[in-house]
Amino acid sequence: MIETKKTLGALLGLAIAGAGLAAVAQPSAGPQTGIVFRNTVTGEPLNTAEGKEGGRDTEAVKTFFQTGKNIYIDDKSCLRNGESLYATSCSGCHGHLAEGKLGPGLNDNYWTYPSNTEDSGLFATIFGGANGMMGPHNENLTPDEMLQTIAWIRHLYTGPVKDAVWLNDAQKKTYTPYKEGEKIPQDAKGQCKPLE
Ligand code: HEC
Repeated sequence: MIETKKTLGALLGLAIAGAGLAAVAQPSAGPQTGIVFRNTVTGEPLNTAEGKEGGRDTEAVKTFFQTGKNIYIDDKSCLRNGESLYATSCSGCHGHLAEGKLGPGLNDNYWTYPSNTEDSGLFATIFGGANGMMGPHNENLTPDEMLQTIAWIRHLYTGPVKDAVWLNDAQKKTYTPYKEGEKIPQDAKGQCKPLE
């Protein structure tokens, strides 16, 4: 009888400990207090703490992780960096102008995965990859570098402005589709420091 009581007590204790653990584990699960990014194909949650170190404590990344809004959009200093990051990591497969090559075009309003219409979806595709040759890029780009790359991809967009949901109303008014040969000044000032 005493034995049974002990066992019951132990079980109860375990159950309480378990419930307690679950209760704290949820809200403190890493830096993802805002948006949960999900793998574009599987829908599995992505852990943004994984991958290349650094580039997580900038204002832009903090804002983005909370709201999904990329404040680097249309910032010339970030476009300068994004152009070079895109050239190194993406253009080989997606084309210099994101017109499509081995991978699909990224400069029009057609998406295999409509989630890429939003910057949060595009981030998830870059971070976690999609199918086949589209592998995850979280080992070679930090989240901050991904936001700069996204700014550049959005800059290459040539589709109708009404579908450019990443632009705010003021940006939509001044939006002009990208033209080949357009040069971003290397000393452009803004939120992004020149890449090292
Ligand atoms: C080795 C070639 C390769 C590289 C490098 C590559 N991609 Fe891809 N990408 C692909 C292929 C192939 C697909 C199609 C995969 C699919 O449909 O699931 C794709 C799909 C995508 C999509 C989904 C497009 C849609 O229509 O929904 C996005 C967004 C994307 N890539 C962005 C990028 C970015 C940004 C980079 C650079 C950081 C990059 N890719 C680097 C080959 C590549």
